[in-house]
Amino acid sequence: MKPNLRRIRNLLFSFALLGSFFLQNGCAQTNKSAPFLKQFTPGKMWPDVNGVHINAHGGGILFFNDTYYWFGEHKSERTSSAQVGINCYSSKDLYNWKFKQVALPVQDSAGSDIEKGSVMERPKVIFNKNTQKFVMYFHLELKGKGYSAARVGIAVADNVTGPYTYLRSLRPNAGVWPMNMTDEQKNAKATLSDFPEWWTKEWRKAVDDGLFTRRDFEGGQMSRDMTLYVDDDGTAYHIYASEENLTLNIAELSDDYLSYTGKYIRVAPGGHNEAPAIFKKDGTYFMITSGCTGWDPNAARLHTAPSIWGPWTQHPNPCTGPDADLTFHSQSTYILPVEGKKDAFIFMADRWNPRRPIDATYVWLPIQFKNNLPVLEWKDKWDLSIFDE
Ligand code: GAL
Repeated sequence: MKPNLRRIRNLLFSFALLGSFFLQNGCAQTNKSAPFLKQFTPGKMWPDVNGVHINAHGGGILFFNDTYYWFGEHKSERTSSAQVGINCYSSKDLYNWKFKQVALPVQDSAGSDIEKGSVMERPKVIFNKNTQKFVMYFHLELKGKGYSAARVGIAVADNVTGPYTYLRSLRPNAGVWPMNMTDEQKNAKATLSDFPEWWTKEWRKAVDDGLFTRRDFEGGQMSRDMTLYVDDDGTAYHIYASEENLTLNIAELSDDYLSYTGKYIRVAPGGHNEAPAIFKKDGTYFMITSGCTGWDPNAARLHTAPSIWGPWTQHPNPCTGPDADLTFHSQSTYILPVEGKKDAFIFMADRWNPRRPIDATYVWLPIQFKNNLPVLEWKDKWDLSIFDE
């Protein structure tokens, strides 16, 4: 080959190489080398340490052995139903996250509760000091049944990242009355068929008086959006949207966190709360919830109580500023106490993207306090030093 021709051939070869590099790395969203992050940018794509947008939606975080573990729903491009399972990421600094593994994979076997195509949402993991096991609860809907099953799934693992062993699903507290229901309410005769029309004054009163609690007494109470909370004394609670999402329940878990003690209360009957997230500061319990508008955002609600068992009081929306009425286009999922910092709590929320679920982003904001009540303010970017101010 003549030297000129060789030069041209080499040049063409270099262009081809460069082209394929850009195709693989430049255009595709994955495999970009990730920047080292030093701040949060709410609502933006959040690359993990491999440059791939974090896939852990509706999640919760467990701090264990000096590391944060983020568990969340794997979401795919076209559907919000579970195609992969519950993902687990880890981080030391809360900004830079490493994908560890699918902590609880969907199962292949037809008829399994957690079959591919079921709905596995809002997973939360807690550590049980007595048994040294990690316990995961999540909202489960059975494949092909829409959101009618309204069950909680329970899984357990010896290692924090899993794999988690799926144990069972259930509707909590079958055959048990809530502690804050009166005898009169328990014995009331009204049933759903007495109210052909919903949202009337009479219907609201009947809901308040436990219409749905009575309906579901035998089979257990419905359980959809949920979180877990471990109190200072190690007692754990499952907080879930019940009664057709009309009423929240707070239910105490057994010592091993694998079942219920039967102690539970109804919170904000008929209040239509979802997406509960909770924390405690100076002896007061704070719970932030959303209203019920599916994937569309709405205004957050704030509830406080001097004891987990109430009485719970509702306050105005804790969000302020532009888009406060839409919780900055997001919905609560968890409130994370930052390790080693006093009174430092991060409000974690999801900005859903039902058309491309995998691209849903995360809205993390610092919880500030005014008159001892949490306040959420939009920030384009922020870092943990905000808690030192
Ligand atoms: C939301 C809920 C999400 C998901 C969605 C389905 O209200 O918070 O977790 O269940 O509805 O439409």
